[in-house]
Amino acid sequence: MSIGSTGSAIEWHPDDTVLHVGGASPYDVVVGHDLAGYLPQLAGGASQVALVIPEALEDTADSVAELFECEVTVMVVPDGEEQKSVEVAEACWEALGEAGFTRNDVVITLGGGATTDLGGYVAACWLRGVRVVHVPTTLLGMVDAAVGGKTGVNTGAGKNLVGAFHEPAGVVCDLSLLETLPRAELVAGLGEVVKCGFIADPEILRLVEETHPENLVPSSPVLRELVERAIRVKIDVVVDDLKETGGRDGHPGREALNYGHTLAHAIEKAEEYGVRHGEAVAIGCVYVAELAHRAGSLSAEDVERHRAAFRRVGLPTTYAGAPFADLLATMRVDKKSRGNQLRFVVLDEVGRPRVLAGPSEEHLREAFVAIGGRA
Ligand code: GLY
Repeated sequence: MSIGSTGSAIEWHPDDTVLHVGGASPYDVVVGHDLAGYLPQLAGGASQVALVIPEALEDTADSVAELFECEVTVMVVPDGEEQKSVEVAEACWEALGEAGFTRNDVVITLGGGATTDLGGYVAACWLRGVRVVHVPTTLLGMVDAAVGGKTGVNTGAGKNLVGAFHEPAGVVCDLSLLETLPRAELVAGLGEVVKCGFIADPEILRLVEETHPENLVPSSPVLRELVERAIRVKIDVVVDDLKETGGRDGHPGREALNYGHTLAHAIEKAEEYGVRHGEAVAIGCVYVAELAHRAGSLSAEDVERHRAAFRRVGLPTTYAGAPFADLLATMRVDKKSRGNQLRFVVLDEVGRPRVLAGPSEEHLREAFVAIGGRA
């Protein structure tokens, strides 16, 4: 076994990109095509593996299990947000108990962001923390949920209010898995990618602006570069501020990743989660761009750049659903507001995020009208 360029004992193929995440629990994120062969190496030393997989992907479980020489317990969980419940997590823990799962063993998640969140939480709690390797199957999962160690489930009190920080032992971003992803899901994932461009990496914006959107397909080198760049943005942020306690020198730290998310979460709730997260994030980013402009930060040109970039990849930039008062009420209880003060991540310019606390209701309303909203 050779030592890879990042120091981990994995034989990485030179065609694959390995992004190292430093910190107290370092790990690698590998990006490329047809990467399933890495899984046995990433589970190295385990005498058994637990595969957490949603119903929609159940048919692939046997072929994944066959990769391992050790025993594999397949835990099929409901699709989507339904799997993120304490009851489903408990059923997984019972299955781990029956299997005699020890600290040496490894949980592997194969699915979208919800599976990453659930499986990560199961691993975080079992024996107070066992190894987990994430294999995200959606673009959103690759560029967001699988990296950074946030895990959790939903409860009656709200989404993601119960969870733990538990960093994975590895993340495998196999772009070939995106080939069967519906186009609308791929486009929704691009919402988080473009967001990363605005908060930290203008090269992402240039690539989006100069690439014909039809060429943003899983096999294209440009999509791969976008994925790698977005993951790098996330890594840089979480390495500095894993637990979202705050950044340095005026940078919001991990909170910067919530760019556009305050309104996005309110829209998702108002639409009873009938809108994709990435679509809501696109609208939310244009909203905070309008808000920042009114608060004297972002130029009018950069506001238009937001509209153009999200539109170009096929995402919505207007919202005419629930009225302002309803969304404002939801934003006030968003877990990112502190006390009764609303907080938004805004940009002073592209790549320079900061927190805007307590904007005036007039600016909040005007920005909402600017995105087509009902005042
Ligand atoms: N999804 C935002 C974060 O990981 O902090």
